[in-house]
Amino acid sequence: MLVLGIESSCDETGCALVKEGRTILSNVIASQEEIHRPYGGVVPELACRRHVEVLPTLLDKALVLPLNEVDLIAVAHGPGLIGALLVGINFAKGLALSLGKPLVGVNHVEAHIYAALMANPVELPALGLIISGGHTALIKVSEVGHYELIGQTQDDAIGEAFDKVAKLLGLPYPGGPEIEKLSRGANPLTYRFKSGQIKGRPFDFSFSGLKTAVLYAAKGQNGTSKTPLTIGEEQIKNLAASFQHCALTSIVEKSIAAAQLHRCRSIIIGGGVSQNRYLRILFESASPLPLYWPAPGLSLDNGAMIAALGYHTFRRKGPSDMNLEPLTRIPWTNSS
Ligand code: KG4
Ligand code: ZN
Repeated sequence: MLVLGIESSCDETGCALVKEGRTILSNVIASQEEIHRPYGGVVPELACRRHVEVLPTLLDKALVLPLNEVDLIAVAHGPGLIGALLVGINFAKGLALSLGKPLVGVNHVEAHIYAALMANPVELPALGLIISGGHTALIKVSEVGHYELIGQTQDDAIGEAFDKVAKLLGLPYPGGPEIEKLSRGANPLTYRFKSGQIKGRPFDFSFSGLKTAVLYAAKGQNGTSKTPLTIGEEQIKNLAASFQHCALTSIVEKSIAAAQLHRCRSIIIGGGVSQNRYLRILFESASPLPLYWPAPGLSLDNGAMIAALGYHTFRRKGPSDMNLEPLTRIPWTNSS
């Protein structure tokens, strides 16, 4: 079965062709970083317009086989920005209708987990860790389609925390890679930050307190986003490294503890923050369980993970109807 996957949930547009849920024939991504950089974050209206502009060209590039050989159109229908999702969904519906092929809506977060699963035979049950700009969650994966939510962030997503801390340090958007770059060679133990703990919920995350601690360290007590930095270049690097160390250590420690408590046999990691090399070092030095990372091109938002999971979603649930709606949030049910 040849599946065309379409992704437009946030600020990347993606089109991909995937065979039988695992063989990627093409995976074309158009990033909107340049468009949103002057604003320090994603501007939904600009994201929607850009998706509209680039989707037809992207489809052309992704079509390494004729369009009429496509058996199924898969599209991310949430969670994400409502207008951005709507562009991809309408594009997918148009294709499905004109080709007379079925349509299937795919959960974007579930696809981030599947990205690391698709290439490898993974020991199940596994603990899925989703770390992206919009999501931070620990999910027990018994098999594809069978999930249990173990923990999630109570405020900012981890990628969002990186982006906000980068902004307050005067770094461009997206901030995650910038913080990682700035931290190289710096001392991550200069500032002894504490990660957020939620009473009675050991596997939930909180990053807003850490973000405020970084703000005060950078701009003095009671500093605001508009206050100028009060520390020098060397200390800014140490501050970035200390933030990164604290935030990522909490992710690693909670993931390993959750995996052990829930008797998982491996840990699979998905989402844009999984590109961080320091995270990989922390995980690899601490985890007694095998770790599975997404292949290059499958960490950030992309169409291949949508097409690949779309294949399984279609096989389990059949097609979506033509009234498929975008969803800003999709709550985790124990079996999705
Ligand atoms: O998965 P993704 O493309 O989007 C969502 O579904 O949200 O992830 C984007 C996020 C951004 O917040 C970006 O700053 C972060 O991933 N990111 C990183 C790194 N590369 C991307 N964060 C930390 N270190 C990185 N190397
Ligand atoms: Zn994503």
